[in-house]
Amino acid sequence: MAHISSRSLCVLFASLLLLGLAVPSCTAWKPEKFTVSDLEHIQAALNLEYLEAEFFLWGVFGYGLDKIAPELVQGGPEPIGASYAPLDLITVDILVQISLEEVGHLRALQKALGPYYFPRVQLDLSNATWGQLIDDAFGQKLNPPFNPYANTLNFLLGMYTLPYVGMTGYVGTSPLLKGAGAKALVAGLLGVEAGQDAVIRRTLWNFADKIVAPYNFTVTNFTDKVSDWRNSLSHAFVDEGLLVPISEGANGQTTGNVLAGNNDSLAFARTAEQVFATLYGTGSASKPGGFFPQGADGVIAKRFLKS
Ligand SMILES: *[C@@H]1O[C@H](CO)[C@@H](O)[C@H](O)[C@H]1NC(C)=O
Ligand SMILES: *[C@@H]1O[C@H](CO)[C@@H](O)[C@H](O)[C@H]1NC(C)=O
Ligand SMILES: *[C@@H]1O[C@H](CO)[C@@H](O)[C@H](O)[C@H]1NC(C)=O
Ligand SMILES: *[C@@H]1O[C@H](CO)[C@@H](O)[C@H](O)[C@H]1NC(C)=O
Repeated sequence: MAHISSRSLCVLFASLLLLGLAVPSCTAWKPEKFTVSDLEHIQAALNLEYLEAEFFLWGVFGYGLDKIAPELVQGGPEPIGASYAPLDLITVDILVQISLEEVGHLRALQKALGPYYFPRVQLDLSNATWGQLIDDAFGQKLNPPFNPYANTLNFLLGMYTLPYVGMTGYVGTSPLLKGAGAKALVAGLLGVEAGQDAVIRRTLWNFADKIVAPYNFTVTNFTDKVSDWRNSLSHAFVDEGLLVPISEGANGQTTGNVLAGNNDSLAFARTAEQVFATLYGTGSASKPGGFFPQGADGVIAKRFLKS
């Protein structure tokens, strides 16, 4: 809705321009190297970048985009339940960097999308939503419910669940793009998202056999359960945890799986429909929930929500 109104504003601005009036905020947007379809595909990613930015910024700083880059949220509602997490020094160091990378990603999207950029969507990052998500992944009620804000290890496990879905989304979007500008933007975003995922997985790898207190399961159990659950929500095999059957490992020769990939070690791809179905936690892009209680925004997300 918001992007439609800003687009009509742009049409209005364009008419004013014809009358010889200067309208810099709108005319600065020149998406020569993007088709309309490219812009719609890239809109899907904006939802994830908002989600990552808020979760990471809140975790390390105790506040989010409203303080760090209010111009990027365009008045969208505050996230529900996002919180500061007491993290160890090395994680703070890394997360300061990763969280601020997300601000850059949003800025790049704002420049590229112009009137197709939409305000921050309603996000739910509460420990209740996280607890439910992990209960669903394990197929049992954990006691106490999983809280990503409790400590460093829990927060890293929370991080495990996010950038990777975005990364597979970028891999899925890539072959659908037509314009050179769109391809360059998505390659640039994909490169850094993949790097973030690698940093997180490599960090968790240090603790692969560690028990996630107070539960009776290891970090590896956790990643495998979350990945299996994300596969079931995506209705496809597009996800792998830190430990896999040997047939699924690199070149069919290893059970260790610090990076996920198919049998040729190419990154898995998700369609926008699979990305939404996964992050809604419902297995359907038509049924909002999870991190997006009112659903995602953008032309493609809204098409699914209406169907
Ligand atoms: C969940 O978050 C709320 C608000 O941040 C907090 O008051 C509550 O103690 C948390 N619950 C658990 C189980 O961590
Ligand atoms: C904890 O998990 C291990 C390995 O999965 C299992 O052998 C053991 O019985 C479990 N202990 C409890 C108290 O559930
Ligand atoms: C956790 O991982 C261990 C070792 O890989 C495995 O034996 C156990 O069944 C797993 N537990 C759960 C709950 O998946
Ligand atoms: C990888 O290869 C194994 C063995 O041939 C097969 O069972 C499995 O389904 C393949 N996995 C994927 C993701 O294609």
